[in-house]
Amino acid sequence: MEKETPQPERMMTTAVLVIGTGGAGLRAAIELSEQGVQVLAVGKRRKHDAHTTLAAGGINAALGTMDPEDSWQQHAADTLRESYMLADPHIVEIVAKNAAQGIDDLDRWGMPFAREEDGRISQRFFGAHLYRRTCYSGDYTGLEIQRTLLRRAQELQVPIIDSVYITRLLVADGRIFGAYGFDIVDGTPVVIHADAVILAAGGHTRIWRHTSSRRDENTGDSFRLAALAGARIRDAELVQFHPSGLLEPSDAAGTLVSEAARGEGGVLRNSEGERFMERYDPVRKELSTRDRVALANYTEIAEGRGTEKGGVYLDVSHLPREQILEKLPRVYRNLIDMQMLDITKEPIEVAPTAHYSMGGVWVSADEHRTGVDGLWAIGEAASGLHGANRLGGNSLIELLVYGRLTGGDAAQYVQGLTEVKRDPAMVHEAREEMQALLTGGGEESPRLLQRQLRDLMTEHAGVVRSEEGLLEGLRKLAELETRAGHVTAHPDIAGFDDLAHAFDLYGSLLAARATLESALERRETRGCHNRSDFPEQDDALKGNMVWSPSTGVVFEPAAEAPEWLNKLANEWIDDSPEGKLAE
Ligand code: FUM
Repeated sequence: MEKETPQPERMMTTAVLVIGTGGAGLRAAIELSEQGVQVLAVGKRRKHDAHTTLAAGGINAALGTMDPEDSWQQHAADTLRESYMLADPHIVEIVAKNAAQGIDDLDRWGMPFAREEDGRISQRFFGAHLYRRTCYSGDYTGLEIQRTLLRRAQELQVPIIDSVYITRLLVADGRIFGAYGFDIVDGTPVVIHADAVILAAGGHTRIWRHTSSRRDENTGDSFRLAALAGARIRDAELVQFHPSGLLEPSDAAGTLVSEAARGEGGVLRNSEGERFMERYDPVRKELSTRDRVALANYTEIAEGRGTEKGGVYLDVSHLPREQILEKLPRVYRNLIDMQMLDITKEPIEVAPTAHYSMGGVWVSADEHRTGVDGLWAIGEAASGLHGANRLGGNSLIELLVYGRLTGGDAAQYVQGLTEVKRDPAMVHEAREEMQALLTGGGEESPRLLQRQLRDLMTEHAGVVRSEEGLLEGLRKLAELETRAGHVTAHPDIAGFDDLAHAFDLYGSLLAARATLESALERRETRGCHNRSDFPEQDDALKGNMVWSPSTGVVFEPAAEAPEWLNKLANEWIDDSPEGKLAE
């Protein structure tokens, strides 16, 4: 007999459900609404404070406002080359080709881009781009994008509920029919019937201790929701460690110091005062690729040339104060707020921080379908653009490009549906899972297990990995998985956050397993993935690790790039930033 639910369920119906109210979800919802399709967007944190707001330094498009010789083809070639040829070339092409439209959309909707005196949109240098193609709003670019998209969504009256946690996608005979979840404020369980779902709920970088994600975001929810619905996870092991995360305060360890700081001319020094990037990449120095700068920082620290606190120095104090205040206002303010440090006078101590999930849900190139009928994934939840190293500024443009395309494709899909299937057993399963967490007698706390998982991932799957470490990580993970079976959530007067933490933990455990198992199989060093026991790149591994709970890891060779793209990506280029920086 079915257990009684303590609170009645709220039932909602929409044509398309968007999960996630950051930039990717909002852009998709806008497209659906503009095409006249009913859409509902739900998210687990306040929409004004979605993770997109943290994106700092910029958004890429080959507009050629500063360097007219730039082209979308060159943008595509830079992206593919710096992915260590693991990106899907078709996705790369689509993003680079449609990037200008993404900027144009934002411009039309009132985005306050930084501009030159004559009105051109300014573009700054970001690491490993051949030309200046990163548009920006100080170092608050993500915040301004989020505001712009929210404004547009409000104009269109897109319904947004930013207090709903989705715990399961509902699938009948391999086709999506909605999602199950609960209201984080009052705990009301919700059943949302939808003909299509767009998953835009972020990545999994909060499963490391030093991370540029805040509490309760990027906890791997997308991975779990998609995997349990039958989708697969690609490149889970390919996690971008950004070179510059703050060391202090410890509860915000990993907070980002934007690459814009180096883009504006900031330099890195070790404890001996040496500008060490001259050894690692004499041409591009601090504007080398993120994986190289992160590894350089890691190596300096590991080899004893780090600071006492375990970092290296990032110094912008030689730049004019006005330039810092205008171009790096957030870095300036964060350091005053968090460390009482004035960056116009003193260097910042930084170390690598888990910053971006370059892998995610497996998606098709053209429309980001997931292989599960009626399910799409976009933004950091998806995979395919970044391969083994992401160019800074590419994720913001990706979410605009694929938000639009995916919204359009989902609109067509629901308009063409002739029948809807539902399966009450799936709803029952989701309901039971939630009730078990609320009423079980287990004494494990989700927050404490989450912390242990983050310690585990930091120790065994950080910047440098080895078979021994990864196996030890998997052994410890199995213990945590067992203990997670004894978690009970304790909602209180303040709300149902503890239930959200329990599901966050479930997502994180699944994401950690996908990451460790995939990292184990990638027996080579490539981009962000450094294996101390396999220090060379292996041509036989030019492809993707694709994981699911039932199959484990399956290797898929990378798709071939068209000849022009291959040629351009493999050409020798002089990508020295000399003369292009405001040094
Ligand atoms: O450093 C940054 O501002 C980060 C940009 C990005 O991840 O794209």
